[in-house]
Amino acid sequence: MCGIVGYVGDKKAASILYDGLKRLEYRGYDSSGIAVNDGFNIDVVKKKGKLEQLKGKIEDNVNGGTTGIGHTRWATHGQPSDLNSHPHSDCSQNFVIAHNGIIENFQDIKKYLLDKGHTFKSETDTEVIAHLLEENYENDVLSALKKTIENLEGSYALTILNNKEPNRIYVARKDSPLIIGIGENENFIASDIPAFLSETKDFYILEDGEFAVIDQDNINMYDFDLNPKEKEIYHVDWDPEMAEKQGYEHYMLKEIHEQPDAVRRLMANRVMPEGIDLEELNLEEEFLKNLNKIHIIACGTAYHSGLIAKYMLEDLLNISVEVDVASEYRYRNVPIKEDELVIAVSQSGETSDTLASLRKAKQKGAKVIAFTNSRGSSIAREADEMLLLKAGPEISVASTKAYLNMVVAFYMFSLFLAKKQEKIEEKEYLEMSGDLIKLPDLLDQVIEESEKLMEDKAKQYAKSENAFFIGRHTDYTLALEGALKLKEISYIHAEAYPAGELKHGTLALIEEGVPVIALGTKESVFEKTLSNVTEVKARGADVTAIVYNGAEDIEEVVDHVIYIPEVNELFTGALTIVPLQLLAYYTALIRDCDIDQPRNLAKSVTVE
Ligand code: AGP
Repeated sequence: MCGIVGYVGDKKAASILYDGLKRLEYRGYDSSGIAVNDGFNIDVVKKKGKLEQLKGKIEDNVNGGTTGIGHTRWATHGQPSDLNSHPHSDCSQNFVIAHNGIIENFQDIKKYLLDKGHTFKSETDTEVIAHLLEENYENDVLSALKKTIENLEGSYALTILNNKEPNRIYVARKDSPLIIGIGENENFIASDIPAFLSETKDFYILEDGEFAVIDQDNINMYDFDLNPKEKEIYHVDWDPEMAEKQGYEHYMLKEIHEQPDAVRRLMANRVMPEGIDLEELNLEEEFLKNLNKIHIIACGTAYHSGLIAKYMLEDLLNISVEVDVASEYRYRNVPIKEDELVIAVSQSGETSDTLASLRKAKQKGAKVIAFTNSRGSSIAREADEMLLLKAGPEISVASTKAYLNMVVAFYMFSLFLAKKQEKIEEKEYLEMSGDLIKLPDLLDQVIEESEKLMEDKAKQYAKSENAFFIGRHTDYTLALEGALKLKEISYIHAEAYPAGELKHGTLALIEEGVPVIALGTKESVFEKTLSNVTEVKARGADVTAIVYNGAEDIEEVVDHVIYIPEVNELFTGALTIVPLQLLAYYTALIRDCDIDQPRNLAKSVTVE
């Protein structure tokens, strides 16, 4: 959701900015622009549409300056257009700015500025910031910036060029991510690390309420009262190749195939044959022993991982687990006691609703753990403790490997807690830990065994306009995730139901040829699911079943079957998701959809 880049150094800025924006494409955008300062002019080019369209304009219209900013916009105020694209400038062209976030009080500010005689070129909320800077400027940009942000309500990651200081960029952050990459004789600014991973592995993570003044060989940081701030350098151990496609046609397919390794990384030094070690969470023994209620808050796919955890924690520990969509949780009056635990789950660690819910839970005195893939993110920093998902950079908007690592992280946590609460026999605990260790190899096997069939089924299902996913117990939560994947990237209308719920209404929609993906990996409820499958089959549905090894009875009823390798019944979800991801991928491929950047969606949802 909107990407920001900046560069100050000794090389031509335009191509570095363009390449940085290219690497942030995955965040989702509908227009883009850059501005470069060569000491004489700040040239600004901007264009609605894909970055390729901007590229043509850059060559002819941008100077060879070595300082600049760039932006990919995901429209909120004003439709996608050349004029509404960032960067924006003030009346005198002294300040040129790019902004991620939303200025909630922009209409009041705009009215004030119009009364003062300013003229506006765009419909955006952002443009008011450039004019307000102009209004507040008295020969010192930092003071003008301080005064300006005192009047802003909302969220912002801001980058600012100033005509009078050609080799300098000012930045400010509140509720929208911003990082500074540290180079030699050059520094970088971005909303996310992959933008400049090829240039540096050392970053400052700007926090809410901070400014930075960035020169070629100097980075000075301040709080919003202009007190200087010292910050630790955050060193990332990701290889630049991890954020590249490496021969795959799409990031999504690459990330599906990376899942066995992602799970290996997650479990390394945490899951051993002798059990689970999650002492890194720093939770007191007493707190863990007495814990009898857990709240899980998340959005989208991350929310689906929480639903699996609910079944698992309830089965294994018999404790109460509430799972909430964060955009609802933040406005609900949820009673929380101090001896309860809140787990906020987020791949990006920047999802605005999840962050707001985390803050709400903390205000109520709850202990909050973040399950996140982004160590330096807002959610990671604001939670009391963090379990890093270690999935590596996930670029495709559709989450696959991060989801899987969330699910496995919940498996690990549930077992760890069951042991602490003495609710599991030693033998079972060791067997289950052993089963976890087998998961990466089993994932390799499932990818190998299901990819071709899913590719073939996709050819058939790509023609459909509707699809249904059904299952019971954790299979129902997998059905929800499978349906989300399919609709998100192939634009086929897909719905998920608990298998037993169909006859209460949805069965009316089942007719000849409608795709139904039936999940039956739980032996304990398989017979029940089988009768529901028979019901849809009797009404003409084309059924693909994904079932446990040994459920051969289903072959007589359905059109195609995929068997999930043998593993503890509570862990089948980690394997079942793979064919569903592959089905969504190949269906979208046949429908010629923009798989890694589906329409209207963004990777990191930093607005409400
Ligand atoms: C997943 O495919 C989606 N793009 C989306 O639902 C995502 O999971 C959701 O926006 C939450 O993101 P987060 O994990 O970064 O918080």
